[in-house]
Amino acid sequence: MKVHLQTYGCQMNKLDSELVTAALKNGGFEIIDSEKDADAVLINTCSVRDHAEQRVMSHLGLLKHIKKTKPDMVVGVIGCMAQRLGAELLADKTVDIVCGPGQIPQITELVTKALREKTKTIAVTEKIRQKSAEDDALEEFETVSDSDDKRIPNQAFVRAMRGCNNFCTYCIVPYVRGPEVSRPPAAIIEQVKRLADSGVKMVTLLGQTVNSYKYDTYCLADLLGMVSEIDGIEWIRFVTSYPAEEFYERILKAMSELPKVCKYLHMPAQSGSDKILKAMNRNYKAGKYLELIDKAKEIVPGIALSGDFIVGFPGETEEDFKQTVSLVQNARYKNCFVFKYSPRPGTTADKRLQDTVAEEVKKKRNIKLLAVQEKISDELSKEFQGKEVKVLVEGPSKKAKVNPCSEKGCAQLIGRTEGDWIVVFDGPMTLAGEFAKVKITRTSPLTLFGEMG
Ligand code: SAH
Ligand code: SF4
Ligand code: F3S
Repeated sequence: MKVHLQTYGCQMNKLDSELVTAALKNGGFEIIDSEKDADAVLINTCSVRDHAEQRVMSHLGLLKHIKKTKPDMVVGVIGCMAQRLGAELLADKTVDIVCGPGQIPQITELVTKALREKTKTIAVTEKIRQKSAEDDALEEFETVSDSDDKRIPNQAFVRAMRGCNNFCTYCIVPYVRGPEVSRPPAAIIEQVKRLADSGVKMVTLLGQTVNSYKYDTYCLADLLGMVSEIDGIEWIRFVTSYPAEEFYERILKAMSELPKVCKYLHMPAQSGSDKILKAMNRNYKAGKYLELIDKAKEIVPGIALSGDFIVGFPGETEEDFKQTVSLVQNARYKNCFVFKYSPRPGTTADKRLQDTVAEEVKKKRNIKLLAVQEKISDELSKEFQGKEVKVLVEGPSKKAKVNPCSEKGCAQLIGRTEGDWIVVFDGPMTLAGEFAKVKITRTSPLTLFGEMG
């Protein structure tokens, strides 16, 4: 039987999709690229903004059409939206399976049953904020099903933590991913060792607030130390960090002292206004955030920073927005992601606050903040001009035309530096998954261009 799997959402979801793929393959399914030739189509979904959910809804609309000519095709919705909407999704005629992020260990069983019995099934967590036996099933699923086809050659994502306890007032994640659980270090290390044996050179440790990783006496800095000792692993990253003092210096020290730990920190500020940060239930003030940023630059010279921002949060005035602009100017990120506030049903912000900022204003602030950042990115990227950088090659660029350079099998390649800068250069396709030295000859705000030395 053939399954097609499409993924929306963050790295957590992409990792879940890798685990689901591995489990289905183990269960004898074939994973295919073509949706219309599949016996079952699974959509791994995201609920973080309304737009993310709308994309899934229109995808389901397309599947409804396909099902008219292929009524036996099974459609499964998995992931965060499945957990959020549950039975409501199952009521859609197109949908046969609804499976939350906590139930993905059951996926093979659910697909098999749906194909065989043509009945609708739902598997979601009833009480999402309570610890449950499902955690053990997830842990086991995670440990045994390493995916064999990596999204990017020789790179892998490994979960350090599940869930989130922060309850930022705008955010749906705690309601769909459950409470924070740090995975046992031994399980993580064993997994990374296996990945290293299979040729993986870079691992990214994942968690919604990965810097608060805590298991017995182990914190993220300890974990970074242990992963550093694994032969074959050359680069280690971790995302996402919450601006907090706990463990912060230890983590930065690990970054400065352990050569394998990439000098890269993704630490979203969300806003530069103390009033808005408070309303968002972010536990810091803008000044504190900037202190943390300064500390990072001091302990880890040359660190690349990135951040996330929400514009148009309820009550955000021009003055609040100006403070966000000022924070961005001070922090000097390599890049940042800017999102327009999207009310999420069930969150505190949605229950207590009106979505007062007009869509037009959100849009304007979004564009403005990105423009401010672009100027900074441009200045920072220029510092690479004429320098040689080490990159881990991901593969041909999207626009790649094979053979622009002299050797056969050459293409425009794309790679990233340890600070996550994108580098575009010509080289042999065989370099995918390998390290290369590239001399930077031209820069743009988000991309460095160069030649192999
Ligand atoms: N755990 C991470 C972020 C997870 S969600 C952290 O705390 O940093 C990724 C990003 O989506 C967030 O950083 C935030 O900027 C954005 N986001 C989350 N909920 C949102 C909402 N309701 N509307 C708009 N953006 C949102
Ligand atoms: Fe959402 Fe806040 Fe948790 Fe990040 S830390 S996942 S923004 S609740
Ligand atoms: Fe990730 Fe979206 Fe879920 S951001 S955790 S896939 S709501």
